[in-house]
Amino acid sequence: MKDIPLGFTTGRVIQRTDWAEHLFSLTVQVPANAYPSPAFIAGQFSKLALLNQQDEWVRRAYSMVNKPTLQDDQLLLEFLIIEIPQGQLTPHLGHLQIGDDIYVGTQPSGFMTLEEVPTNTKDLWMLSTGTGIGPFLSILEETKSCQNFEHLVLVHAVRTQAELVYKEKIIELMKAYQGKLRYVPIVSRETVKGALQGRIPSVLESGQLAAAAHVPLTKEHSFFYLCGNPNMVHDTRDTLEAMGYKKHLRREAGQFSFENYW
Ligand SMILES: Cc1cc2nc3c(=O)[nH]c(=O)nc-3n(C[C@H](O)[C@H](O)[C@H](O)COP(=O)(O)OP(=O)(O)OC[C@H]3O[C@@H](n4cnc5c(N)ncnc54)[C@H](O)[C@@H]3O)c2cc1C
Ligand SMILES: NC(=O)c1ccc[n+]([C@@H]2O[C@H](COP(=O)([O-])OP(=O)(O)OC[C@H]3O[C@@H](n4cnc5c(N)ncnc54)[C@H](OP(=O)(O)O)[C@@H]3O)[C@@H](O)[C@H]2O)c1
Repeated sequence: MKDIPLGFTTGRVIQRTDWAEHLFSLTVQVPANAYPSPAFIAGQFSKLALLNQQDEWVRRAYSMVNKPTLQDDQLLLEFLIIEIPQGQLTPHLGHLQIGDDIYVGTQPSGFMTLEEVPTNTKDLWMLSTGTGIGPFLSILEETKSCQNFEHLVLVHAVRTQAELVYKEKIIELMKAYQGKLRYVPIVSRETVKGALQGRIPSVLESGQLAAAAHVPLTKEHSFFYLCGNPNMVHDTRDTLEAMGYKKHLRREAGQFSFENYW
C-alpha cells in the first residue's frame, strides 16, 4: 500500500445514508489529534482521497455537513456526496460501506463561514443547488451564533423531490430556531406541493422566493451565500447585480458571496 498523502489521515466510514440513487451521506471517523482545535469552522470543506486502479491518489474537496463533533478521541465528519457516473472519485466513494477506510484531509479550509458575513446583516439567505446545501446545514448547527440574525433562509434547489435531503434535520433545526429559520425547497423537473418550481435566479427575480420565505429583500439587511453548481452561481450573481446587490469583498462590504463546487 502506497504511503498516504501528506496532510491526510486514515478515516473509517461509520455511517452511510442513501437518499436517492447516486446521492448519499457518509459519516467518517478520524483521529481528533490529527486536527487543529476546533477541527473546522462550520461552512468549511476538507478533502477525501482514495487510490485509483493505476495506484494514484485521487483527491477532491467535500464540505462538512455537521459541526465539529468529538466522540472520545475521534472526530466525526459527515459529507453529502453525489456520484458523477463518469467522475474519477465519486464512483469509488459510492461503493464505500460501513467499516471501509477513506483518506481525509487534515487542514479544512474555506471562507463561506459566519465570521465572513458583514455585521449589519439581519437576514442570511443560503442559496444552494444539489450537494451545496451541506455547508449551510453545518452553519445552521451553530444555533447560538445564528440566533443573532433576524431571519435565516435555507433555499435548496434540486432536480427532483427525492433529492430534497436532510428533511428531518431541517425540521429539527426549524423547531430549534422557533420561526427564525425559513426553508424553501425548489424543484426544477417535477411539480411538488410545498416547493417552488424553476431555478433560483428566476424565483429571486420574480419575487416568488421572498414571498415563499416571508422575508423581504433589502440592500441594508440581506446577505446571500450561494453554493453549488457554478452555472447557478453565475446566473444568480447576474440576477443579484441587476437587482442592485454587490459582491462582498473584505475591503468593501457587499451583499453576496459564493462557493463554486466545480
Ligand atoms: C469547495 C468545494 C466543496 C465541495 N463540496 C462537495 C460536497 O460537499 N459534495 C459533493 O458531492 N461535491 C462537492 N464538491 C465537488 C467535489 O470536489 C468533486 O468535484 C465531485 O465530487 C466530483 O468528483 P469526481 O472525481 O467524481 O468527478 P471529476 O472526475 O472530477 O468530474 C468533475 C465533473 O463532475 C461535475 N460535478 C462535480 N461536482 C459536482 C457536484 N457536487 N454536483 C454535480 N456535478 C458535479 C462537473 O461537471 C465536473 O466538471 C466540492 C467542490 C469544491 C471545490
Ligand atoms: N440529479 C440526478 O438525478 C442525478 C442522477 C445521477 C447522476 N447525477 C449526476 O450528478 C450531477 C449533478 O446533479 P445535480 O442534480 O446535483 O446537479 P445540478 O445539475 O447542479 O442540478 C441541481 C439544480 O440546479 C439547477 N441549475 C442548473 N443550472 C442552473 C443555472 N444555470 N441556474 C440556476 N439553477 C441551475 C438545476 O435546474 P435544472 O433541472 O433546470 O437544470 C437543478 O434544479 C449530474 O451532472 C450527473 O452527472 C445526477
